[in-house]
Amino acid sequence: MTSVSPSILSADFANMGEECKRLETFGADYIHCDVMDGSFVNQITFGQKMVAAVKRNTSLPLDVHLMIVEPQRHIESFCDAGSIVTLHYEAVKNSVKSCIKLIKEKGVKAGLSVKPGTDIREIEEYFCLLDLVLIMSVEPGKGGQSFMDNSLDKIRYCKNYKDVNSTDMLIEVDGGINDKTGRRCVDAGADILVAGSYVFNGKDMKEAIASLKKL
Ligand code: DX5
Ligand code: ZN
Repeated sequence: MTSVSPSILSADFANMGEECKRLETFGADYIHCDVMDGSFVNQITFGQKMVAAVKRNTSLPLDVHLMIVEPQRHIESFCDAGSIVTLHYEAVKNSVKSCIKLIKEKGVKAGLSVKPGTDIREIEEYFCLLDLVLIMSVEPGKGGQSFMDNSLDKIRYCKNYKDVNSTDMLIEVDGGINDKTGRRCVDAGADILVAGSYVFNGKDMKEAIASLKKL
């Protein structure tokens, strides 16, 4: 079964505790926390205090996606709440290995993400150190955008690496995911689907999560 990590970027921020409980009740596998700093991306969302508050309101593992510059300055505090902490390769190009080490030393799963314009081969040398690779299927920065097809080749590339090297690195996809684009991602080899607007903005959250899990 496919794992689903709903993004609380599309949740009602004034009722975050309730939103987390709904996600848990309706079968989410993770809660995806989009941390944006107004610099790596334009929007500012929330920081460590919100992620800690989410953790207090759910028993689901938190999947923390850091869209921030100099994430190494904040890794440890996000690791206090996160089960997976994912950095952007574009933000840590010169210190990828030390950042991954910092995350792992905290006993947390380490993820590395690439923007749509970044060649997946640039990060292949780090695959052996990673628990998760996050393929962005939209330009990071906001929810509700359309899925970009070029992410499918990246997913296939990672899946092939996993098969050849017999590793269990998780492949996660984020951006423009619904039941149709999610199907294509799972067929290409994705393990975890992140979905924001599809889960929160539709008529039925339970049905939306179920439709992704069964892919
Ligand atoms: C975008 C975020 C995504 C976003 C996805 O920068 O990383 O997690 O919430 O939203 P949808 O599913 O609406 O594309
Ligand atoms: Zn995200």
